[in-house]
Order: sequence, then structure tokens, then C-alpha cells
Amino acid sequence: MGLKTKILLILVAVFVVIQLFQSPKNNTAPETSADISRVYPMSPNVKATLRKSCYDCHSNSTHYPWYSYIQPFGWWLSSHIEEGKEELNLSQFKDYSARRRKSRLKSMAESIEDGSMPLSSYTFIHNGAKLRDQDRKLLLNWIDSVRASLN
Ligand code: HEC
Repeated sequence: MGLKTKILLILVAVFVVIQLFQSPKNNTAPETSADISRVYPMSPNVKATLRKSCYDCHSNSTHYPWYSYIQPFGWWLSSHIEEGKEELNLSQFKDYSARRRKSRLKSMAESIEDGSMPLSSYTFIHNGAKLRDQDRKLLLNWIDSVRASLN
């Protein structure tokens, strides 16, 4: 057996073995009373847009795409979810202090405005999560009106 074949076989074996290590799934509850949509009224459009573009990493209910069952993509998504939820958990928005809610709403607007969210590494493979111009406008208008109501 040549060296190249050996290396290839080892890589295949490693790939097969890492499939056994699935990350725990982040989908505890469909929607709880602490969800941001229960804290601030939003239209079905706003809700659907947040779900499509933000909830996968910023909530307790990720909608898992098929490739998330393949490692190392699943691990990669899991680490985003973990980090994303630390920064902002839309499923637990009610639990935030008034001050934190305000700061989260502000950084949501900023991240949408500057295009840093949703992460481009994610929309690259998950095209459906991309925000179109009208989605961006919709979300920003809604965030603006919520922020105005808090002052
Ligand atoms: C693929 C996962 C993923 C998606 C989808 C995603 N985010 Fe994030 N988000 C992260 C990660 C990871 C972080 C923490 C690291 C960072 O800031 O880059 C983060 C951080 C943030 C922060 C905190 C930034 C700061 O500087 O305080 C905000 C606000 C945010 N995201 C809003 C959003 C909004 C709004 C959407 C939808 C339009 C969204 N994210 C979609 C993964 C994601």
C-alpha cells in the first residue's frame, strides 16, 4: 500500500470516527413566555425574519440543517450557538434587566446595520438566512420603535 493510500485511509477513518461525536442539540423549547416576541409586540413578518436569520444562534431553538449532522460542521455550528447565546438569547429576553434589554436592542440594530449579523460564514452555506434589504429595513424599523417606546 502506498503512502498516499495510507494517508487517505486514515483520513477516511478519522472522518467516520468523528461522526460518532454528535453535539447536543439546542432545541429545548419551541417558544416560551420569555421570548422577545412576548415581551415586545411584533408583526408576523418581523417574527419570521428574526426566526429565519437570528434564532438559529440566538435562541433556545435552533432549526438544524441536514449538514449539521455531519462533523465537523455540527461542532462548528454548536460553537456559534454557544457564543451567540451568550451575547444575545432571544428566547430569554424577558429575563434580561431593563438596562441589558436596551443595550441588546442597540447592538442588534448595529449588527444589522453594519451587516455583521447574521455571520457571513453562516449565510455562505445557509443562504436562506441572509437578510434582504427589505428584511433589514423591517427589523431596523421594529427595533427603532421598540427602543423609542422604552425612553
Ligand atoms: C451562525 C450563527 C449566528 C447567526 C445566524 C446570527 N448570529 Fe449574532 N452572533 C453570533 C456569534 C457567534 C456572536 C458572538 C461573536 C461575535 O460577536 O461575532 C454573535 C453576536 C451577536 C451580537 C452581539 C454583538 C456585540 O458586539 O454585542 C448581536 C447583537 C447579534 N449577534 C445579533 C444578531 C442578529 C440581530 C442576528 C440576525 C439578524 C444574528 N445575530 C444572527 C452568531 C450568529
